[in-house]
Amino acid sequence: MPTSFVLPVQPIIMSEPRQILVTSALPYANGSIHLGHMLEYIQTDIWVRFQKQRGNQCIYVCADDAHGSAIMLRAEKEGITPEALIAGVQAEHSGDFADFLVNFDNFHSTHAEENRELATGIYLKLRDAGHIATRSVTQYFDPDKGMFLADRFIKGTCPKCAAEDQYGDNCEKCGATYEPTELKDPRSAISGATPVLRDSKHFFFKLPDFEAMLKQWTRSGTLQDAVANKIAEWLDGGLQEWDISRDAPYFGFEIPDEPGKYFYVWLDAPVGYMASFKNLCKRRPELDFDAFWNKDSTAELYHFIGKDIVNFHTLFWPAMLEGAGYRKPTAVNVHGYLTVNGQKMSKSRGTFIKARTYLDHLNPEYLRYYYASKLSRGVDDLDLNLEDFVQKVNSDLVGKVVNIASRCAGFIHKGNAGVMVDANPEPLLWDTFQAAAPAIAEAYEHRDFGRAMREIMALADLANAWIADKAPWALNKVEGKQAEVQEICAFGVNLFRQLVIFLKPVLPNLSADAESFLNVAPLSWQDHALRLANHQLNPFTPLLTRIEPAKIDAMIEASKEDLAAQSTEAAAPQGNGELVKEPLAAEINFDAFAAVDLRIALIEKCEFVEGADKLLRLTLDIGDAKRNVFSGIKSAYPDPSKLEGRLTLYVANLAPRKMKFGISEGMVLAAGPGGEEIFLLSPDAGAKPGQRVH
Ligand code: MSP
Ligand code: ZN
Repeated sequence: MPTSFVLPVQPIIMSEPRQILVTSALPYANGSIHLGHMLEYIQTDIWVRFQKQRGNQCIYVCADDAHGSAIMLRAEKEGITPEALIAGVQAEHSGDFADFLVNFDNFHSTHAEENRELATGIYLKLRDAGHIATRSVTQYFDPDKGMFLADRFIKGTCPKCAAEDQYGDNCEKCGATYEPTELKDPRSAISGATPVLRDSKHFFFKLPDFEAMLKQWTRSGTLQDAVANKIAEWLDGGLQEWDISRDAPYFGFEIPDEPGKYFYVWLDAPVGYMASFKNLCKRRPELDFDAFWNKDSTAELYHFIGKDIVNFHTLFWPAMLEGAGYRKPTAVNVHGYLTVNGQKMSKSRGTFIKARTYLDHLNPEYLRYYYASKLSRGVDDLDLNLEDFVQKVNSDLVGKVVNIASRCAGFIHKGNAGVMVDANPEPLLWDTFQAAAPAIAEAYEHRDFGRAMREIMALADLANAWIADKAPWALNKVEGKQAEVQEICAFGVNLFRQLVIFLKPVLPNLSADAESFLNVAPLSWQDHALRLANHQLNPFTPLLTRIEPAKIDAMIEASKEDLAAQSTEAAAPQGNGELVKEPLAAEINFDAFAAVDLRIALIEKCEFVEGADKLLRLTLDIGDAKRNVFSGIKSAYPDPSKLEGRLTLYVANLAPRKMKFGISEGMVLAAGPGGEEIFLLSPDAGAKPGQRVH
């Protein structure tokens, strides 16, 4: 039987399709994608899918951000080239995004020829227009490693409060900020060497040249109000020239005509947006690079980013584009940070969840829907509450949306060979669905996905209530009512089809499965105005199953295991320029070492200490004696009983210390930076309590 539609009374007026280029921030190529990142990529992907479904030409590009010293040092540590490191990470990232149904038109890398050409070209235009300055900068230099040290690679004693082991730019103890040269006893965090001051020529982008343009641009509807206000504070405080060069050794692009000088990673990172698009143009001849990037381009350009990288995208980047003669972004869309269960993602709580760990346990569309239901156009942080997540997905998607189809399909297959009859038994309800479409579209357009989801679920509620009221399952048992049952169920499936159209940007897989059940071509937004009539359905298969809470628990446990695995990898933390190595302490002679009486100890008992946040009480068997030790390792061992029966290393001749909770006799040995990352040391099997460690 041929498919037929009942056409709407009003013709659909389609305006000219828009040309839109969209980007998400380029993830660093030195770590895995986690659920915090996914907030951004899912948000952007939903918006892009919505634009495509509306019939606009919308191109979504991204890339790995592959340059910088953190990546260079991590590659070195793993004994591979930076190129090998970033190739492996790019494959991992691409797989994560694809499995979360994030549909980039291109996922490139900043370490690519297109990017070298574009970044170099932009720099030369800026230089030739007089927007680049040079001057000498005095900085700490690691004489062992032969490299200048970014602030995060210098540690020392805080000049304000004398706390030891603080970073080169701020003190975590007292909150003071300072210059690295003010630190007492500075050390290189890479080699442990004492850094020396050295001069070097640096290149600066003269941001103040663009002050007038930026004041105007940031107030021209390009930014959310909260973001524009924040930027206004910076603009009013006066703009500084921006240091865009780094000295060799550095993993990046060399500055033209300046051997040994490299572009700072943040100079070529946003150019990566252009480079990814340029790379795509080679594969897609219908795309014209210049039409999207020339100064007089009529295409729209949107960057989606998190709140931490606003200055790069709303000051430096538009100024670079302006200075080099390119168009500026139509808007920069900023989102807040993800928290899990109301707190910052935490490795020890198992809420620092990698994209892959999630995918190992759960369907990506659950998270896409949950994020959509919580996203607004604001910059507030967003909480993934795992209980609410289970409840909301199960009740909305499974309980409301899928339920409509599963309630109606069976009667159509059994009673009418799978053919939907031509029926509009409740025109008011149909009109309500029609009338809701523009508001839902507007909510999508303005990134107010939460509002879109609420409107859609309100429609689902109406549909369910109507079907419940008509009760086809009861009616079907009544003689002579079968025709009515077919009308109810055909209408029910049509309402389901409407919901699928509205949810399609969020749930691409569910929509594809629904399209094959409905036996229709991919649903466009405009298709909502049509109603299926005299139409053959395919057999119904379950479209989505409920989330089992046990899966959540398993995911949390697996995230804790990721952490344990990571500690042995000793991977560099994510981000750009963070600490990679603990510096070495001053040299001691053998006598000093021999003076420490190290023993093997058996942890007989291990328990919480009432009133102590960080301590565990250990009862140690050291062969011929028992010792009581308080150890600040609770944050890493939330279940102390798990330590019982384990051997560890013990400093036996440390002077006893009187503490609020009792006397601590000696110390057990552990490694790691602290917090959840503390790793108690153990001897090989065979060691006996009391044995001396040599
Ligand atoms: N490489 C830079 C961006 C360069 S863009 C030219 C970078 N990378 S990142 O991997 O640290 O972050 C990528 C994006 O993910 C950023 O927009 C960042 O704000 C976002 N998020 C990272 N962690 C996040 C959360 N916990 N929550 C929400 N977004 C987060 O920055
Ligand atoms: Zn301090």
